[in-house]
Amino acid sequence: MILVTGGAGYIGSHTCIELDNEGLDFVVFDNLCNSSKESLKRVSQIIGKDVKFIEGDIRNETDLQKIFDLYDIDSVIHFAGLKAVGESIEKPLAYYDNNVIGTIKLCEVMAQNNCKKIVFSSSATVYGDPHTTPITEDFPLSTTNPYGRTKLFIEDILKDLFTSDHEWKVILLRYFNPIGAHKSGLIGEDPNGIPNNLMPYISQTAVGKLEQLSVFGDDYDTHDGTGVRDYIHVVDLAEGHVKAIEKIDSLENVLTVNLGTGKGYSVLDIVKAFEKVSEKKIPYKITARRNGDIAKCFADPSYAKSVLGWEAKRSIDEMCEDSWRWQSKNPNGYKNN
Ligand code: NAD
Ligand code: UFG
Repeated sequence: MILVTGGAGYIGSHTCIELDNEGLDFVVFDNLCNSSKESLKRVSQIIGKDVKFIEGDIRNETDLQKIFDLYDIDSVIHFAGLKAVGESIEKPLAYYDNNVIGTIKLCEVMAQNNCKKIVFSSSATVYGDPHTTPITEDFPLSTTNPYGRTKLFIEDILKDLFTSDHEWKVILLRYFNPIGAHKSGLIGEDPNGIPNNLMPYISQTAVGKLEQLSVFGDDYDTHDGTGVRDYIHVVDLAEGHVKAIEKIDSLENVLTVNLGTGKGYSVLDIVKAFEKVSEKKIPYKITARRNGDIAKCFADPSYAKSVLGWEAKRSIDEMCEDSWRWQSKNPNGYKNN
């Protein structure tokens, strides 16, 4: 049985479906601080069976031990964490507590129960402002905000754990920019309040909840001056986790892998692709650069292909189509539906 921490969230809920598709059994553990039970109800609807769920906090050893008492947990996919860069600058302690302390507690309880396999959600944010693109896993690491530092700390903590005890099997997955949603339109990204990220901002503008997109800067050194990112379909990302879990038993060292497509799209490329598939006009204005943003970030995904046998398959049009289906069917996300 696989324990999925943070499994009620955006990437976790999509991963549950792909685990089930592969016949892998899982239990979700989530404190619902950034999600709701509705996402798991929808997952149940899609997979046609109940989802095992325990509500609890990864910082609470008693909550965690409960799962190990109830289920025979073989490995953990660890999504649980806070993820808003801006909020992390305002509330650094909350981020270090939740993400870093939470992961330490999780690993302690895992070790006490002799479960030593973990797949961790890291981020391309650990590459800071890369000196060039595409980005390979051996690029120097740095970061400019507390959220990014939690990812760097946790990567190091998990590496130290392996050094101390080679029974640990650790996979660090560095995600690029996940967007899109499950084809059913039943689950998707449901940010609280005004979205920080590009795709939910665009889709909420398309559905009429927001007036206008602000494009943060058009004077970057990119093909049209706007920021370039490696957008990856969340279902491709979810499939990457299945491949990681299938690989984990054979590891002899910590495995660090980029999950991206290798393609970079600008903000305006995404606006155009979204307008095409949704047949909606996205009003936008060019504004100042956002603090901390970089010009260009996209992966070299070749290591993922060679080591996991995984590569992203879904196109930017499909990502926009699926985001749009989710948003138009659920204008208020999981609320009031
Ligand atoms: P999300 O907020 O939708 O999901 C995270 C889930 O973890 C939520 O359901 C939340 O309720 C739960 N959670 C948070 N703290 C918890 C705690 N202390 N105990 C139990 N549950 C807790 O976010 P997501 O986009 O699905 O991201 C999942 C992981 O991937 C996060 O670790 C995030 O940092 C990482 N990541 C996300 C992105 C992205 O752009 N979405 C990019 C890179 C990495
Ligand atoms: N952007 C806008 N307007 C908006 C929102 C974003 O122009 O309203 C631009 C940004 O300037 C950037 C691009 O759209 O050029 C993507 O921005 P996002 O906020 O969607 O994503 P980021 O690349 O800034 O960051 C995301 C996650 C981080 C993660 C990083 C790498 O939010 O947590 O990807 O994985 F670390």
